[in-house]
Amino acid sequence: MSLFWRLFIPNATVLGVACVVLMVEPANGRVPALVGGLAAMLAVNLMLMRRAVRPLTRLTALMRRVDPLHPGERIPLLGPGSEVTVLVEAFNDMLDRLEAERRESGLRALSEREGERRRLAADLHDQIGQTLTATALQVGRLVERAPAELRDDAVAVREAILATIDDVRALARQLRPEALDDLGLVPALTNLVERLAEQTGMRFERDLQRGLAELGPDAELVVYRIAQEAMTNAIRHAGAETISVALRAAGGCVRLEVRDDGRGISGVDGDGSGLRTMRERALTIGAELDIAACADRGTAVRLKVDIDDI
Ligand SMILES: Nc1ncnc2c1ncn2[C@@H]1O[C@H](COP(=O)(O)OP(=O)(O)OP(=O)(O)O)[C@@H](O)[C@H]1O
Ligand SMILES: [Mg+2]
Repeated sequence: MSLFWRLFIPNATVLGVACVVLMVEPANGRVPALVGGLAAMLAVNLMLMRRAVRPLTRLTALMRRVDPLHPGERIPLLGPGSEVTVLVEAFNDMLDRLEAERRESGLRALSEREGERRRLAADLHDQIGQTLTATALQVGRLVERAPAELRDDAVAVREAILATIDDVRALARQLRPEALDDLGLVPALTNLVERLAEQTGMRFERDLQRGLAELGPDAELVVYRIAQEAMTNAIRHAGAETISVALRAAGGCVRLEVRDDGRGISGVDGDGSGLRTMRERALTIGAELDIAACADRGTAVRLKVDIDDI
């Protein structure tokens, strides 16, 4: 029944009953009877109206629960056709459109950001890297011809330039996971883990399944970047001894798990831009991301990519 009739019928019924009562037993100025009648009318009206608007109250509560970071949740259709069901359908359609748009704009932002990183990495490598290399060679020649009292200084300058070249190379590699383009996800993750182990001296365990199904460039980039941020967080915040990274395929899904044995993330830590970006990246490929402290110790970041969804 439509909302209009659900509001109109209780009102009409209460008024009708009141009229009938007054016709049968006129109040004739009896104030207590009139006040009592009015109170009874209001009580009945209140009850009936509350019943009539209950579906709307439920709908509002459900709408408030919808979380844009956990897409896919829809409001069930409440009862037979009415304005409320139409409203629910319109709301669910709106969620469909918003989620699709969010996914698309997320993917757009992701590829723009990656394009920008690529350009920066190329500039660093081709311009600054080449110039520094040429300068290092020049200084090398200077070292050979420099008088004895300047030689040590010239050698120190050359060493500093060579160290900066290494830094620039490392930065360019970080900005652009070239192994991902050339070799694929598993070798790129292997390189990343090895590099982090070397830089930090921490213990890393790897369980990366070879011969995984192709996820496509967008999804592979998302998996790579999420693994990178999860490992960086474990290094920076967890105080962990060991970080383990696993990538496995099972039942039509590819699962990434980055786990550490540190202090464990807590609810009060709040999201920095790292956690938020991980969630947004997962959303762009319709993957599920779960970041939580483990029961014993440490934190686990789990990503589940449904191969059919991408
Ligand atoms: N593996 C972890 N173990 C313990 N705490 C963690 C872990 N990962 C994240 N945290 C906590 O969650 C917070 C938010 O992490 P997030 O990656 O969003 O931000 P951040 O690392 O501080 O900064 P950035 O924006 O550079 O990533 C961290 O500051 C930290 O307190
Ligand atoms: Mg971080």
